[in-house]
Amino acid sequence: MFKLKYYIKTFGCQMNVNDSEFIAGQLENIGCTAALNIDEANIIILNTCCVRRKVEHKIYSMAGKISLLKKENPEIIFGICGCLAQKEKSFIKEKIPAIDLIFGPSQVASIDVLLKKYLDSKKTIIHCNNKKIFKINNTPIKHKSDLVAYIQIMKGCNNFCSYCIVPYTRGAEESRPVEEILAEIKNLSQENYKEILLLGQNVNSYGNDGNSDNNFLSLLTKINNTGLIKRIRFTTSHPKDFNLDLIKVIKNGENICEHIHLPLQSGSDRMLYRMNRKYTMSQYYQIINHIKSNIPEASITTDAMVGFPGETEEDFTNTIEAFKKIRFDSAYTFIYSNRDYTLSSLFENQIPLNIKKERLWKLMEIQKAISLQKNQEMINNNYEILVENKSKKGLKNQYWGRTRTNKTAVFYHRDEKNNNLIGKFVIIKIINTDSYTLYGELIDVKQ
Ligand code: SAH
Ligand code: SF4
Ligand code: F3S
Repeated sequence: MFKLKYYIKTFGCQMNVNDSEFIAGQLENIGCTAALNIDEANIIILNTCCVRRKVEHKIYSMAGKISLLKKENPEIIFGICGCLAQKEKSFIKEKIPAIDLIFGPSQVASIDVLLKKYLDSKKTIIHCNNKKIFKINNTPIKHKSDLVAYIQIMKGCNNFCSYCIVPYTRGAEESRPVEEILAEIKNLSQENYKEILLLGQNVNSYGNDGNSDNNFLSLLTKINNTGLIKRIRFTTSHPKDFNLDLIKVIKNGENICEHIHLPLQSGSDRMLYRMNRKYTMSQYYQIINHIKSNIPEASITTDAMVGFPGETEEDFTNTIEAFKKIRFDSAYTFIYSNRDYTLSSLFENQIPLNIKKERLWKLMEIQKAISLQKNQEMINNNYEILVENKSKKGLKNQYWGRTRTNKTAVFYHRDEKNNNLIGKFVIIKIINTDSYTLYGELIDVKQ
């Protein structure tokens, strides 16, 4: 048994969050415990992202600080894993001499083996093979929540959007067998989980790699029909693969939440073509119209970037127009960042940073106003919330949770005697809102 204390810092997307849960689970399985803070840890792991340059800077700066900690205490085991590790293994080994473990996203289920290997040899261990078969079944996991669980239904991405590093870090698409996913869901329901989030870089291509007889529609239908989990979410959908059949499955699936995250990236056909997104604005609008007419209560969110190489004022105006026309509930907006290996890093007409910043600011302001309006439309109506926790910042009896449409809501519960609402479905009436949070009043406790 390893009586070591571990500290994991996670950067990047939900996939990485889930990978860190696997790392924590395996470390606890061999006897390690979570450190309360980095200073008391014997094992420090950075689970990294490299989707934009900015996050890389943060990671390297944190690695510098950990190297100093290790100077004071050479017994510390320092690991870097995830997408940046996959992309920059040699650079990391050369520039961060304090490093002991370097492993890629496909090795998260083998941290116990890697750790033992390191302890036996005391030499830097590098394992970054993203062609390794995707196997996470029966890997110990420590979920960060007791209510909401992430489930990777597939790994990798075959789309090669021209700006994106992910296909290079996570490798080719590979789907998990349906039976494995259903068995995991059964276990989660026995552990009283109320919500699951199915994860994949492009969930719509689930099953396309031929390892499964199912596709995403049949998977989603089967999960819904088990009736085991009240709230089923999924991310991310790719507009090129999103169709009316999926909209109908969401509409008819009682347990499938009415939230669709559909990354737009740009409102300009010219940019979409250069991004290799494989859809046009007219196709995107068509999907949005189908969603709005079939599931009017659905929330629609997106990702978009500004300053893609060659983006003119007119292209950018098209993105603004699309935002105004579609009226997303919320949007993650980014400044385009050149990534090595990607096609667009070789494109001419790179946009100066000051213009990118101006465009981002403008787009964010527009979206902020739309998000506020959309939230205001909810005032005086009742919604079901899954109560996830007490508010850290708020008053004593303040709770927070999310609507089925994935909006964060805060409410007070004044009943001192019966005040543990965590894990319950409640109905609240929205009384106020800003662009990001709904404020409500408790109407009813469902169960
Ligand atoms: N598979 C998902 C998530 C990809 S990464 C998808 O296809 O949407 C999440 C978001 O990061 C992307 O949607 C995109 O908006 C943004 N992104 C990816 N590469 C980027 C880059 N080079 N510069 C800026 N933003 C980027
Ligand atoms: Fe990246 Fe495109 Fe794949 Fe999403 S679909 S992970 S943006 S290559
Ligand atoms: Fe980042 Fe890798 Fe996710 S690059 S966004 S952690 S897939």
